[in-house]
Amino acid sequence: MKLILLGPPGAGKGTQAKRLQDRYGIAQISTGDMLRAEVAAGSAIGREARAVMESGALVSDDIIVRMLAARVEQPDCAKGFILDGFPRTVPQAEALDRMLDEKGMRLDAVIELKVDDAALVDRIAGRFTCAKCGAGYHDTFRPTHVAGKCDVCGATEFTRRADDNRETVAARLDAYHSQTAPILPHYAARGILRSVDGMAEIDDVTHQIEAVLDGLPEPA
Ligand code: AP5
Repeated sequence: MKLILLGPPGAGKGTQAKRLQDRYGIAQISTGDMLRAEVAAGSAIGREARAVMESGALVSDDIIVRMLAARVEQPDCAKGFILDGFPRTVPQAEALDRMLDEKGMRLDAVIELKVDDAALVDRIAGRFTCAKCGAGYHDTFRPTHVAGKCDVCGATEFTRRADDNRETVAARLDAYHSQTAPILPHYAARGILRSVDGMAEIDDVTHQIEAVLDGLPEPA
């Protein structure tokens, strides 16, 4: 199964992609996580991406498309993948079409998480992640069961992202509306766009997505 999860920053793409990865055995491909790994490693891509990400703007299509093309060749993508945070511009969507065509693949669905802008700042401001296993949490909406201890691996160290501040979130939202939302008609015209209510509780959103996926024809 090959899916795209689309939505503004904080819509819940990463939260839902991790659940779908576990349920369907397909790889989560987050271009944001890949870029953060490059920044942490101090690579050439990371050095170029760092300032762009901290400003809330988008990293160049050329870098992203090259990273993505290499990533879908990895063995964990054999059963399929969920693209989380890609494509984000019309040129990226067109590059993805070409890439899939060349590999004889097709997308099964593009799932849009619809969330009001006003809710996103609170979601992003409260987000934190386990430093050891990467499990995602929220101060209010998804706290750990035991305060200060990861539910998944028991670690006690957590991180918050450098770009999760009010100013950068505003720029990230602008980038979403001006550069990413215009790709929705591209998929609507092909009849593969499905929208779900991302304002619902996390479990409800998962159920909505599963209902969409379980109703799809056999994956390509
Ligand atoms: P990226 O890492 O992709 O960030 P983003 O798109 O801004 O999305 P987020 O990760 O912030 O949010 P999410 O939708 O995954 O929400 P989450 O599940 O964590 O990109 C970062 C940067 O990298 C970009 O700004 C850009 O510079 C660069 N970049 C990345 N890809 C690129 C590309 N293709 N092209 C160019 N540049 C690129 O949820 C958020 C919080 O809300 C969590 O705490 C969660 O617990 C909580 N939550 C989730 N769902 C719910 C719910 N239903 N109700 C209540 N709380 C919820």
